[in-house]
Amino acid sequence: MNAQLKTKKSKVKTAAVPPRWRKEVERILITDEQLARRIKILAREIERDFRGREMVVVSLLSGTVMFLADLIRHLNLPLRLDFIGVSSYGAGTESGELVFTKELRLDVRGRDVLLVDDILDTGKTMSRVLPKIRVLKPRRIKICVLLDKPSRRTEGVEADYVGFQIPDFFVIGYGLDFAERYRNLPFVGVLHPHIYKQACQRVNEVEVRKSSR
Ligand code: PRP
Repeated sequence: MNAQLKTKKSKVKTAAVPPRWRKEVERILITDEQLARRIKILAREIERDFRGREMVVVSLLSGTVMFLADLIRHLNLPLRLDFIGVSSYGAGTESGELVFTKELRLDVRGRDVLLVDDILDTGKTMSRVLPKIRVLKPRRIKICVLLDKPSRRTEGVEADYVGFQIPDFFVIGYGLDFAERYRNLPFVGVLHPHIYKQACQRVNEVEVRKSSR
């Protein structure tokens, strides 16, 4: 069952943002303890569903690094691991064009695939990745994401395993970035709006300069 941050808000302990990050991180949304607890539960659900099968974990780079490392160390199953490199290059907080930077190398034909990503947002990434794997004829594909933002979904794709359902905040940390920064934070935090407003303003200024040349 999903951990619904919205509905369980009263039970979520608020933690203070470490002083080093206070100017950039508005608040901590999910603490490292909450992440660790939930990931152990997810791993047990996955273990139950994949028991006795030949499993291939396919992880999407780069946002999954921390989640993946913590998830697979709790999976007491034989598994093989591979990565697909995919990134959306867009301005500010909006996702743009998708670019594949690494293709799958392991053979997944007839295998059970667990596709792991850090966040399911609009669903555009997943809906581009899924056909690439389906064409390789795996026995089945299950999707596991740490975070799910259903309010932003534009594609008809859902995850089978969800760590936390979250509202529409711009989240960073625990692998998630803004302009490639903050991936190393041990918690999931909410980015201060002034950070991405500044970035959007810089992008707009560059666009204006380009168009006036
Ligand atoms: C992020 C994230 C997901 C995707 C979700 O990837 O890791 O893959 O966006 O968004 P969507 O559901 O709207 O497609 P990003 O392109 O930022 O690359 P990254 O993993 O390297 O940060």
